[in-house]
Order: sequence, then C-alpha cells, then structure tokens
Amino acid sequence: MPAHSLTPSCPLPDSAAIAASRKPDDFSARLLRWWDTNGRQDLPWQQPRTPYRVWVSEIMLQQTQVTTVIPYFERWMQDFADISTLAAAPLDDILAHWAGLGYYARARNLHRAAVICAEKYGGELPAGETELTALPGIGRSTANAIISQSTDTPAAVLDGNVRRVLARHARVDGWSGSAAVQKILWAEAQRRLPRGRGADYTQAIMDLGALLCTRSNPACGQCPVNADCQALAVGLVDKYPAPKPATRVTQRRLEMLVLLHTQAGGKQRVLLEKRPPRGIWGGLWCLPEAPDRAALEDYTGLDLADGQPLPVLQHRLSHQHLSIQPILLSKAVAKQVKCSSEQRWVTLGSNKQPGMPKPVAQLLQQLAGQTISGENA
Ligand code: ADE
Repeated sequence: MPAHSLTPSCPLPDSAAIAASRKPDDFSARLLRWWDTNGRQDLPWQQPRTPYRVWVSEIMLQQTQVTTVIPYFERWMQDFADISTLAAAPLDDILAHWAGLGYYARARNLHRAAVICAEKYGGELPAGETELTALPGIGRSTANAIISQSTDTPAAVLDGNVRRVLARHARVDGWSGSAAVQKILWAEAQRRLPRGRGADYTQAIMDLGALLCTRSNPACGQCPVNADCQALAVGLVDKYPAPKPATRVTQRRLEMLVLLHTQAGGKQRVLLEKRPPRGIWGGLWCLPEAPDRAALEDYTGLDLADGQPLPVLQHRLSHQHLSIQPILLSKAVAKQVKCSSEQRWVTLGSNKQPGMPKPVAQLLQQLAGQTISGENA
C-alpha cells in the first residue's frame, strides 16, 4: 500500500501511516549538504540571481534541458538585458531568439508579461506570488522558483524533476498531473522546506531530480535522502511516478510550398508567410502550407504541376506527428502568392533569419547548402 493512496477506503497500515506523517525534518539539511559539494552552482542565471534572470531561465527550462538552454539564455541576456528592453522589443525579434527551443507560447508570454511589468510595475517583476501568477506564463511553481531563487525565501516548487523526487520519497500514487495528486505533492513539497537558504534549496531539489533521482536508472545508492525514501523501501522506485495516461497522437500530412527566387547576383530567396498569433507555431514565419496539393494550389493561386517534390520531413509535436512534403517551385521573377497578407522573402544562408518552426528552419538550412538551379515554372 503506497503512503499516499487515492482510495480513501483503504486504510494505511500502521508503519506506513507513521512514516507518512513523520515530518521529514532533516530532508532539507541532508539535501543541502549533498548539494554543497555535488550540486550545480555555476549556472549562468545564478550569477547574479536577479528576478528577471531567474524568470527567463525558468521559462526556458520548462520543457528544455539545461545544456540546450545555456547558449539561448546568454544570447537573450545580451540583447534583452532587462524587462523594459524586452517589453520594447518587436515580437519577431523575440521569436527569432527563441527559434529552436520550441513551445513558442513561452516566448510570446514572456513578451506579454514584460509589457505588463513595464506598464504596471515600473519595469520590474512584482514580488508576491499572487501578482506573479497573474502574469502570462507564470504558474505557482515558476512564481515560487523566482521568489526563492531571487530573494532566498524558501518557497515550494513543483516542476517535473521535483514531482518525481517527491512521488518517490513520499510514495505518492497516481499521475502527477491530476488535481488530486498535485494537491498531495504540493503538501509534500511544503513540509520539506528548510527555514533558510531558499535559493540553494530550490536548486538542490531540482538538481537531485536531474542528477540522481532520474527517470530511469536512478542512483539511489548516492541519494542523500535514501534512508527514508518510501518507494525505495519497498523496491518500487521504478514504478513512481505513475506514467501519464496515454493521449491519442494523430498523424497529419502537410504540403509546403518552397517558392524559390534566384536574384541577379545568384542569391536565392524563399517566400515565407507569418502564421496567425494563436495555434500551432503561432506568430512564426512559415512556408505556405495546405493539407494536399490541390489545396496548396488553391491557397497560393499557383499552378504546381511543375513543382519538384523534395524529401518528406517528419516532425513530432506533442499530439501530432507531421509528415511534411515540401514542393519546390523556382521562379526567375519574385512572385507574391495570394496566401497570407504578411509575407516576406528570406535569403537562404543569411544569418539574419526570422523565427521559424524547426522543420522549416532545417529545410531552409539544407537548401542553403545546395545550389538549386533552373526555373521550373
Ligand atoms: N529546471 C527548472 N529550473 C531549473 C534550474 N534552476 N536549474 C536546473 N533545471 C531547472
């Protein structure tokens, strides 16, 4: 019987009930002692740990690994050094800085939140959890990560790594995304907080999840809190946390038009259109697309009979697997197409590219490496 069963009719056995109700007093002390010699203490957002730097890092780290985030974070801070600069920047510039990180709503929310902070809070982040969570893209865990790391006040966080640590240490049953399990995990996170060293503790519990209490092959032998880990005690670490119930992934086919214009000097440009602000790849620059050839002809107003199919690209989104068929059409004369009202020509190989979805950026990069000759329409 797990320490936290979601079935109230099953009473806990005495020993488990005692263990579950015992406040893990020294959890934070053991964890911090481990972190002092084994934790990550030289991450760029830790020097200095300002609210703005912590905020940007937390948003970037939401779906992305630390090693991927670091160069993005450094480029971001070079160009958007503070909230007022970010608020004044065009969204296109912000999305271009984000290109490759995915989940672009995060970048749009950073911008919207920066505008609110510039207008309402003098270009600073507000200090309280309520005000922070009212900003776009900031939930309770991110708000507390900002508060704890920038003020050193202990505040509970519950990102993916921390959920895994707590689900194992307190042996919490059920999928951690459900409201009932979330409630239990927040309580477990709160009762383990130290009295001080809030910044280090937040980083320490995240590091424990990232470095030792990993999803597969956790290093339980080296774990500073293994002595009272409830899942370890019953040999079921690999069963916690329970996996997310399967969601249906749909297959989708798309055709994308690569309208290529070769300029007099030999430079080649491709026509991109701006996607609507909401929905998949919102606000990014993309190739004109449609579900099939006839729809693409209809959408662009072009005859694609002479279009040359390029190798199909596969791209996975959270709930969709995309199979993208690019169709290359070369033009001697730059031609607008009738699709979206916001269009621009992008020079292949130029280092000033707008924010594009990953498969489009990859395709243009491949094309830039080849010279495509001739006109086929
Ligand atoms: N994920 C979220 N916040 C993090 C942090 N501060 N360090 C490492 N990974 C994280």
